[in-house]
Amino acid sequence: MSDARLAAQLPHTLDATDFPALGQKYQGKVRDTYLEGDRLVLITTDRLSAFDHVLTTLPFKGDLLNTLAHFWFQKTAHVVKNHVIDMPDPCVIVGRQAKAFKVEFVVRGYLTGSLWRDYEAGRDPYGLSLPPGMKKDQKFDKPLLTPSTKAPIGQHDEPLTDAAVLERGLLSARDWARSKEAALGLFAEGQKQTSAQGMLLVDTKYEFGLVGEELVVIDEMHTPDCSRFWIAEGSAERFARGEPQQMLDKENLRQWLITERGFSGQGTPPAIPDDVRVMLADKYLTAFERITGTIFPLVVGDVRARVEKNLKAAKLL
Ligand SMILES: Nc1ncnc2c1ncn2[C@@H]1O[C@H](COP(=O)(O)OP(=O)(O)OP(=O)(O)O)[C@@H](O)[C@H]1O
Ligand SMILES: [Mg+2]
Repeated sequence: MSDARLAAQLPHTLDATDFPALGQKYQGKVRDTYLEGDRLVLITTDRLSAFDHVLTTLPFKGDLLNTLAHFWFQKTAHVVKNHVIDMPDPCVIVGRQAKAFKVEFVVRGYLTGSLWRDYEAGRDPYGLSLPPGMKKDQKFDKPLLTPSTKAPIGQHDEPLTDAAVLERGLLSARDWARSKEAALGLFAEGQKQTSAQGMLLVDTKYEFGLVGEELVVIDEMHTPDCSRFWIAEGSAERFARGEPQQMLDKENLRQWLITERGFSGQGTPPAIPDDVRVMLADKYLTAFERITGTIFPLVVGDVRARVEKNLKAAKLL
């Protein structure tokens, strides 16, 4: 049984914002960002995307995601600096604007997802030369980096080999080297802290950029939107029996879309029924509470009005 407040919040979700006084607006799939000078206000809405389509909103998703990202930025600040200045509302981060690299840093601890599909089909788009005979969901000896381009809106990200990043001039050699080190360092810290909570950080995506000469991690970190999380208990047994893992991330949505609606990105996306929205919101809530070991205060009500009030209190509006 999911928490009744998830269903009660369905009519109040935040699908878009419009605060011109915050600066110049850029609308991503999930976040609305406002730029003023070198200050960025990132509002994580309740929008849910999959296969590069925005499909619906989920109750409390923006709050859960943003507060979890903020938790991780704090927990990893000793490894790599980040863009966070302040969190004036559960779904808002005020950050330093960075010159964002056009590369997404995906780090993987296990052979799963698209990399498994590539491996099974004999493709090696990242030039990893994985040994033969590996099984689905098998843990790597060491986490691997599988970078991709950060494609403009409407286009899909493209896999990159190590050499291609420099050949294509996407980053300087120095920035490439220090971002790789940062990504692997953050992932090690994330795995350490999640496993202490009985969860496995399976893979994730980082974005980096420069503020002046300083390398900072931007956007979001170790959330169920940009990462896979599995429940540790019983994971090894499931793997040994060739069974699927217990997932607390967006893979639940992708599987529902594929198996219940035959949708994997092509054509018109299907409508998402309210019971599925609540089921998915419950995964985000469970992920938050398991990872942080804290209860999230779910307060049913109008998100936009609350955000506006908090932005005013922080003198941002
Ligand atoms: N500190 C920062 N400096 C500059 N850009 C940032 C910073 N933090 C986040 N961003 C950018 O803001 C946007 C956040 O929006 P969101 O996460 O919704 O986008 P997305 O769906 O991941 O990608 P797209 O922007 O292609 O729609 C991303 O493009 C991200 O790269
Ligand atoms: Mg993003």
